[in-house]
Amino acid sequence: MPDQKKDILKVLFTEEQLRTRVKELGAEIARDYEGRDPFFLGVLKGCFVFMSDLVRSVGLPCSMDFMAVSSYGNGTSSTGAVKITKDLSQDIAGKDVVIVEDILDSGVTLGYLTKYLAGRKPASIRIATLLDKPDRRVADIYPDYCGFRVPDEFVVGYGLDYAETYRNMPYIGVLKPEIYK
Ligand code: IMP
Ligand code: MG
Repeated sequence: MPDQKKDILKVLFTEEQLRTRVKELGAEIARDYEGRDPFFLGVLKGCFVFMSDLVRSVGLPCSMDFMAVSSYGNGTSSTGAVKITKDLSQDIAGKDVVIVEDILDSGVTLGYLTKYLAGRKPASIRIATLLDKPDRRVADIYPDYCGFRVPDEFVVGYGLDYAETYRNMPYIGVLKPEIYK
């Protein structure tokens, strides 16, 4: 079996660090939403590993659903155009929505998504992102919950991909630039 680790320049967050930080985020969300019934909205596909760990550490009664958007193609920077390829299958009117993302980069995706969702009249919308890459931000979007800040490097693992690969690595690492150059 080919070893994915040979494509990694350096490990940024180990399994242990991810586990600890995601538990902390879950506890923070549980405190903030005590007595309410948050609705977790995962942005596919990058969210799926983070979201499964996060919702299990929140511990409150909650509901969840997923949307899929595409903005990237197989490159490493946003095309700027966001397309919804899978919409929600339920109404979010009156709900306390927590959007769950793998990484907030230019902010184009979440800028578009928060505006789109606001039109459906939820009670509130907050953003939980595992990673924040603020250097390339072009949209006026900030996370309410953030696992780690990362430098302007292309990272993969724990749900994050390059051209649909590396999502199943249990840690997060910087991809060697020669892989995508
Ligand atoms: P934004 O619209 O530029 O904020 O892009 C957000 C999306 O781009 C994320 O949900 C990821 O799918 C993808 N993305 C941005 N940076 C990275 C990265 O370093 N590794 C993997 N995917 C990334
Ligand atoms: Mg992606």
